Amino acid sequence: MRRIAILGSTGSIGVNTLDVIRAHPDRFEVVALTAGKQVDRLAEQCIEFKPAIAVVSEAADAARLEGLLQQNNISTQVMYGPSSLVTAVTDSDCDTVMAAIVGAAGLVPALAAAKAGKRVLLANKEALVMSGNLFMQAMNAGGGELLPIDSEHNAIFQCLPNNFTKDSSSQNAHLGVEELWLTASGGPFRNTPLDQLASITPEQACAHPNWVMGRKISVDSATMMNKGLEVIEAFWLFGLPLEKIKVLIHPQSVVHSMVRYRDGSVLAQLGQPDMRTPIAYGLAWPERVAAGVKPLSLTQLANLSFSEPDLSRFPCLSLAFTAAQSGGAAPAVLNAANEVAVAAFLDKGLPYLQIPVVVEKTLNAIATGKADSLDSILQIDAQARKVAQDFIKAL
Ligand SMILES: NC(=O)c1ccc[n+]([C@@H]2O[C@H](COP(=O)([O-])OP(=O)(O)OC[C@H]3O[C@@H](n4cnc5c(N)ncnc54)[C@H](OP(=O)(O)O)[C@@H]3O)[C@@H](O)[C@H]2O)c1
Repeated sequence: MRRIAILGSTGSIGVNTLDVIRAHPDRFEVVALTAGKQVDRLAEQCIEFKPAIAVVSEAADAARLEGLLQQNNISTQVMYGPSSLVTAVTDSDCDTVMAAIVGAAGLVPALAAAKAGKRVLLANKEALVMSGNLFMQAMNAGGGELLPIDSEHNAIFQCLPNNFTKDSSSQNAHLGVEELWLTASGGPFRNTPLDQLASITPEQACAHPNWVMGRKISVDSATMMNKGLEVIEAFWLFGLPLEKIKVLIHPQSVVHSMVRYRDGSVLAQLGQPDMRTPIAYGLAWPERVAAGVKPLSLTQLANLSFSEPDLSRFPCLSLAFTAAQSGGAAPAVLNAANEVAVAAFLDKGLPYLQIPVVVEKTLNAIATGKADSLDSILQIDAQARKVAQDFIKAL
């Protein structure tokens, strides 16, 4: 029986994780659930799964959650605030942590899970983008297993022989891996005339053609910042040089990513665009369990197409490559500026086309040093947020 803590259980990944767990009560037990603000949804989850610990962001929400649970005779311990996210990982007796908080808020508890030697199912790519070196060191020191949940990285993980382990860089060279090909749908604006992009609304940006996801990652998919963050994520996870990590537009989202080998072989993982597949893979690894996903029928697909991304349409992708090449704290600055810009866009306080402008200005304004401690990363994250906010105010 695996004991699971879900960081971000009320979000899209969290809800899908509980859906897989619900189908396998003989294999998985939920011991901790954490949310930000969605108290009612978390209460329902606690009533169904009876975790030992539940966490929300604010004290008032914790009091309300406690009341709802008492009415239903649920003895879950309710906590609140960022430090309680760490407690949920360290004190819940979990052996597996689904890291599915969106954005930088997920970094500290994900690092705590890494240090504590848990099996970390990593959906929160921003944590790895901000702290790649530190995070991988923490995983090595903790001795746990890191399983990628992002569908692309999960696909690559499945296409690597015997999967990758901690010393992935030397192992991948040894195994003859030449290139990783990350596929990208191109989002809702892949073919939108460029002169129409100026008036894009949050609702349009969140209407992804293939995937149902949280609002922040949906906007990131529209700008392709998501793919840029994934390039950085792949760099840390699989230990290949950046020039060996390629992006391919694949509008059907059926091939989730590929590995090209030295002997000419290309291995791909295919499936429905349904996150329950990589989630089930991570939960049950190295076994496979039913995920509730409908079978893939290749004969019902008209075609599978692939093309190079158009960087003039997707400047965020270029910015991510630039930040990745700069290294150090640059990816943390990129991530922070993007989070601020996307939040402003979702609040209707920033036009869609200004998202890359804010990110680029912030990257240019901050002298980035090393990202070798949590304190230095959190400091540069705070600085970049302030700079990005100032740029937005000045617009
Ligand atoms: N959705 C996908 O298909 C998908 C695919 C690949 C990777 N990912 C990655 O997985 C992560 C989660 O994505 P998502 O789409 O599931 O996002 P989402 O639907 O927006 O859910 C985010 C979760 O994080 C919680 N949260 C947000 N801010 C928080 C804070 N400050 N403190 C504590 N908890 C906080 C939310 O709580 P409340 O809602 O209760 O406020 C919610 O439970 C992201 O890093 C994303 O890039 C997602």
